[in-house]
Amino acid sequence: MTKKILILPGDGIGPEIVAEARKVLEALEAGGLDVELEEGLIGGAAYEAHGHPLPAATLAQAERADAILLGAVGGPQYENLERALRPEQGLLGLRAGLKLFSNLRPAILYPQLAAASTLKPEVVSGLDLMIVRELTGGIYFGQPRGVRELENGEKEGFNTLVYRESEIERIGRSAFEIARRRGRKLCSVDKANVLEVTELWRQTMMRIAADYADVELSHMYVDNAAMQLVRTPKQLDVMVTTNMFGDILSDAAAMLTGSIGMLPSASLDADGKGMYEPIHGSAPDIAGQGIANPLATILSVAMMLRYSLDENARAVALEAAVGTVLDQGLRTRDIAAAGQASVSTAAMGDAVVAALSG
Ligand code: IPM
Ligand code: MG
Repeated sequence: MTKKILILPGDGIGPEIVAEARKVLEALEAGGLDVELEEGLIGGAAYEAHGHPLPAATLAQAERADAILLGAVGGPQYENLERALRPEQGLLGLRAGLKLFSNLRPAILYPQLAAASTLKPEVVSGLDLMIVRELTGGIYFGQPRGVRELENGEKEGFNTLVYRESEIERIGRSAFEIARRRGRKLCSVDKANVLEVTELWRQTMMRIAADYADVELSHMYVDNAAMQLVRTPKQLDVMVTTNMFGDILSDAAAMLTGSIGMLPSASLDADGKGMYEPIHGSAPDIAGQGIANPLATILSVAMMLRYSLDENARAVALEAAVGTVLDQGLRTRDIAAAGQASVSTAAMGDAVVAALSG
């Protein structure tokens, strides 16, 4: 059956990098992948066209789709809009609206790029880590939230970090399943020494661990996890954590690999429907110049093939094609070594298509 893929380019470098991922999808289609591609508006682009970062039409398109490919949202020109109209709300609205609670953020170091990391090669070479981030709960969505005025006229801002046991159990099971298919080691990250809600997180992880006796569960406080990530990252295989801790730790993990421009992500619902996007943002400082790295978005297509389209062989082939272009020495500016020539966004996309078809 034809699978519907919704493409949401978004803002900043989003349209440029998504255009290259689209070339890849079209090449796969020419090679027999049965998909139908459709585009929609999200973020600042949607706000400009329709006055809202997540128009009802986009949400409806997303609900109909089997998988979604998103570029990036946001930009400085939108920072003074009221919160509900900012581009980020488009993304958060899609995550919540589609119940995409399980966010997979792999940090894989391509051996060709070992020198691109700011960490010593021996610390990061061979790194292959998966962060499983809870994506539709926690402090990002907890109520009450806001800024209120106190009796003395001072303002007070507040947000709520809240998790139900069922939400913890759901993301925990998702992470255990992933750990099972990898190195059978799961590290749950919390702040149970200070925060009651993450003490419940830890207890819940320990309770469900009984159903996954083949996986070794460990726990780390988030501050220590941040330190271990940059000290000896290879001790870690799969990490599972809350929405905000996962946001922070996944940026740190991305840098271990040399460039945030290389890393894809998947956000999945309970049935495997997913939204796929690069981990990096809209990079307004380089937008429109044709120099952004499209590989994170292209690798997001590989994750889509694997997790939503049941096309593992094509996912492996696409990842291999990315390896081939790196072997050929092609580098966008973000992953080029000092003094090394770099190629454009489009040239990188074309090279992946050629490697895939060759
Ligand atoms: C991410 C981003 C988003 C987040 C922003 C753009 C809302 O940083 O996907 O990591 O905080 O989740
Ligand atoms: Mg982030």
